[in-house]
Amino acid sequence: MQLKQALASAVDRLEAADVGSPRMNAEVLLMFVLGVNRAYLYAHPERELTAEEESRYNETLAQRATGMPSQYITGHQEFWGLDFIVSPAVLIPRPETEHLVETVLELARGIPNPKLVDVGTGSGCIALALAHELKDAEVYGLDISCEALEIARANAARLQLETRVHFAQSNVLEALSDVLDFDFVVSNPPYVGFGEADKVQRSVRDFEPRMAVFAGERGLDVIGPLVEQAYAALKPGGWLAVEIGYSMRDAVIGLLDPTMWEDVRVVPDLQGIPRVVAARKRSVRPFIPE
Ligand SMILES: C[S@@+](CC[C@H](N)C(=O)[O-])C[C@H]1O[C@@H](n2cnc3c(N)ncnc32)[C@H](O)[C@@H]1O
Repeated sequence: MQLKQALASAVDRLEAADVGSPRMNAEVLLMFVLGVNRAYLYAHPERELTAEEESRYNETLAQRATGMPSQYITGHQEFWGLDFIVSPAVLIPRPETEHLVETVLELARGIPNPKLVDVGTGSGCIALALAHELKDAEVYGLDISCEALEIARANAARLQLETRVHFAQSNVLEALSDVLDFDFVVSNPPYVGFGEADKVQRSVRDFEPRMAVFAGERGLDVIGPLVEQAYAALKPGGWLAVEIGYSMRDAVIGLLDPTMWEDVRVVPDLQGIPRVVAARKRSVRPFIPE
């Protein structure tokens, strides 16, 4: 079968399975199977596929037709211009999380040798993007999932950042309770409430790790302890920066006791949806008479 015929029948098959952007998905999977780029697909429409290529392409299409995200099939996702490996043990890094990286880089300007910790590191995308940009930073990445940490460590090695980013298993910040004085606690925690499961895309519900997505009834079961433990981990004047869900702005700001936190900032994403909340640990707690 010729490449153009394989592509055309793949598009039909994905369309019939109700997969969004069927052409893009058919191309991504064919590029993956053949180990070529998009330009090659367009330059060689008449290239014959071998029987083995055809059968591998069919396998990936069958997986995609079940709703499995293409990133779990190809094992890759780009984030912050870097190539990350992903598996079903980690959340697929999202473009909107780059707002969190941008926010931290902005706040870190002028801070020499900043010490940062990324809580719920997953693939390691935030910790590694920050370490890539901040060459003098000391970076930690924590996750409750050992399987996720394996992927994060593999990504650190591929990006040659393994000597500068330290990964450890931890429930929120508990494992680092003796490493204090952070300049930044950064996190894209799970923040979907169980009650909101029906608002989450089916592919997320069915294929991404449950503990990477859901956090209790209202979505606050990780952010709550995070705010509390971040206060202890940060140096005075240090920053907490957290990605939030589309309707969580007020609930998260409500967790930031104004006697402990100041300079609260909310950063919107490109659609104007509040995406990041950042707050600075007060240097001195104001005296408030009872
Ligand atoms: C939304 S994902 C974010 C992954 C990655 N940082 C990203 O932005 O793509 C949340 C991560 O938090 C981890 N996690 C969930 N509960 C946790 C907890 N109590 N302590 C530490 N990590 C937790 C999950 O395993 C998951 O990797």
